[in-house]
Formats: sequence, structure tokens, C-alpha cells
Amino acid sequence: MIRVCLVGLGKTGSEVAKVLLAQDSMKLVAAVCSPGSSKSGRDLGEIAGCRDTGIIVEGADRLEEMVFRTKPDVVVDFSKPEATIRNAVVLSRMRVNMVVATTGFSKFSLKRLVVLTKKHHNAIVYAPNITLGVNVMMLLTNIASSILNNYDFQVNEEHHSRKKDIPSGTALKIAGEIEKGLSASGIDVLQGSIPINAVRAGGIVGKHEVIIAGEEDMLEISHQSFSRKAFAAGALRAVKFIYRKSGYFEMSDVLNLGGILANYVENDRNRIAKRGLYMNNISDEQAETI
Ligand SMILES: NC(=O)c1ccc[n+]([C@@H]2O[C@H](COP(=O)([O-])OP(=O)(O)OC[C@H]3O[C@@H](n4cnc5c(N)ncnc54)[C@H](OP(=O)(O)O)[C@@H]3O)[C@@H](O)[C@H]2O)c1
Repeated sequence: MIRVCLVGLGKTGSEVAKVLLAQDSMKLVAAVCSPGSSKSGRDLGEIAGCRDTGIIVEGADRLEEMVFRTKPDVVVDFSKPEATIRNAVVLSRMRVNMVVATTGFSKFSLKRLVVLTKKHHNAIVYAPNITLGVNVMMLLTNIASSILNNYDFQVNEEHHSRKKDIPSGTALKIAGEIEKGLSASGIDVLQGSIPINAVRAGGIVGKHEVIIAGEEDMLEISHQSFSRKAFAAGALRAVKFIYRKSGYFEMSDVLNLGGILANYVENDRNRIAKRGLYMNNISDEQAETI
């Protein structure tokens, strides 16, 4: 049974809490809000809008004492960057593993996360795009761009009106995957040259789309999150992956995308080798009869 602590009980954290509470292979043992928050001292169920849980929410200023008392194996963080870094220092020192889903870190802060795992031998999954589908979308985009490298590219994204960053970090990363795919196929591409169109409207949870258009045909790769539970599904995968590991990881490690691709390549190689063998075994006489 993996013991989990949840940090950050906002829009996403409270949805993730409900999913964590329903797991058989994990036990949610603690929930953390900001220091001085009105959520402190209340039952987590009241915050998340579900049954009473017996888990009393506490402020992050009591994190160290709380970890001693509740002994989580993994902390899942959906808070804000400054809070995540402060918490990561405490948790790494205490050799607790972390799934960091919070976004908006500076390059320097991200380096600090890597260095912490090296120094304290704990593990961190840094997952700025935690949904399973978006990670597969990035991989598909990279491959499609290197194959259809003379096509035109466009990234579109749609999010709710309260989302502050525009374009989204995910849209920028998708554009980066297009650039990587093009470069890998020998095309010179300027950084930041892939057009991105962003819409902020209503309550849209999140949609990303890549259009790859040629003169005669067009490929669309599209991902949509229907609810914040999509983030929870990714968080569960990351928690299971990081349990009892040490090191710094990303969602591509969690989903073993490299391993799956290597398998694909190996299978294709075997198929080509088998075809070669079959061709070699056809005698000239046999060929004449066809
Ligand atoms: N990786 C992904 O795919 C993904 C998906 C969704 C969201 N996110 C990211 O997750 C973060 C949260 O998103 P959200 O939509 O839930 O935002 P939100 O509704 O604004 O929630 C953020 C919460 O963080 C809490 N917080 C602030 N300081 C804290 C501290 N020191 N310790 C613990 N909690 C603290 C606040 O708690 P109080 O109410 O207690 O002050 C607030 O409820 C953002 O960075 C967002 O970009 C990532």
C-alpha cells in the first residue's frame, strides 16, 4: 500500500483528492494547504466535496512534522512553484518522493529539483503535462513531423477564461516537438517559428490540436481533457512509478515511451529480416512459375 500526501487543494488538487481516496493500492494519509489558509483544520472531504475522510487538512508550514507523523511514501504536488520548491527542499531532506505537477517554474528552479534528488537520493517526477493522452500526443507529433517534413504546421489550443499563461506551456512544448521532429529529418527550423493559436473562453478544461497540412492531404492530432480527473489518472501512474525509486524523471519515463518505441523498431527489424529470408528461399524456378 503506497502512502500518499497531497499538497495543493485548489481546482485540480481537490479533484485529484477524490480519485486518490478511491484507490485500493494507495492510502491518502495527509493533505496540505497554504499556510494560514481557511482550509486548514477542516476535513479533506469538506474541501473536495465528498464524504468525511478523517484527514484533517494542515498548512504547509507544518509539513515536516506532518511527514514525521503520517509517513507518506510519495507527495503529489498541485500548488504553485514557490511553494513546491520550498516543500521539495523539506521533503527531499526527509527522503520522501514527489510527483510535481505544478507548472510555471523558472529554469533555475527546475535545476534545483534535479539537484535535490542527486543530493538526497530521493525521487521526483516532474510532470508539467500529466495527462496520459497529451504525452502520447507529443510523441506522435514528433514522429509525424519528421515524416511529413515538407508540410505546414499549426498548433491550436483552447482553455478556460481564467487560465493565465497564453499560449499554454503544453502548446509551446508541442511546437517544440514539431521543431525537434523537423530537425531530426534534416530540416533547418527556427526556434519559435511554429504558429500557435490560443483561445481563452468559458470553462473549457483543455484542448490541444496539431494540424499538419500538405497540398493534397492533412493530418490532425488532437487531445481534449473532459475533466480534471484526466490529471488524476496521470498522477496515479506517476505515483506507482516513483514508489521506492530514486532519481529525476519525466512523464515519458513513467509511460516508458522510449521502451515502447524501441519495441516497435525491433519488431519492424524482425519483420524486414523475415521478409528477406522468405525472398532468399524463393528459387529462380519458383519465381518463373508465377
Ligand atoms: N501538470 C498538469 O498537467 C497540470 C494540470 C492541472 C494543473 N496543473 C498545475 O497545478 C497547479 C495548481 O492548479 P489549480 O488549477 O489547482 O490551481 P488553483 O486552483 O489556483 O490551486 C492552487 C492551490 O495551491 C495552494 N497553495 C498555495 N500555496 C501553497 C502552499 N505553500 N502549500 C500548499 N498549497 C498551497 C492554494 O491553496 P490555498 O487555497 O490553501 O491557499 C491553491 O488552492 C498549477 O501550477 C497548475 O498549472 C498542472
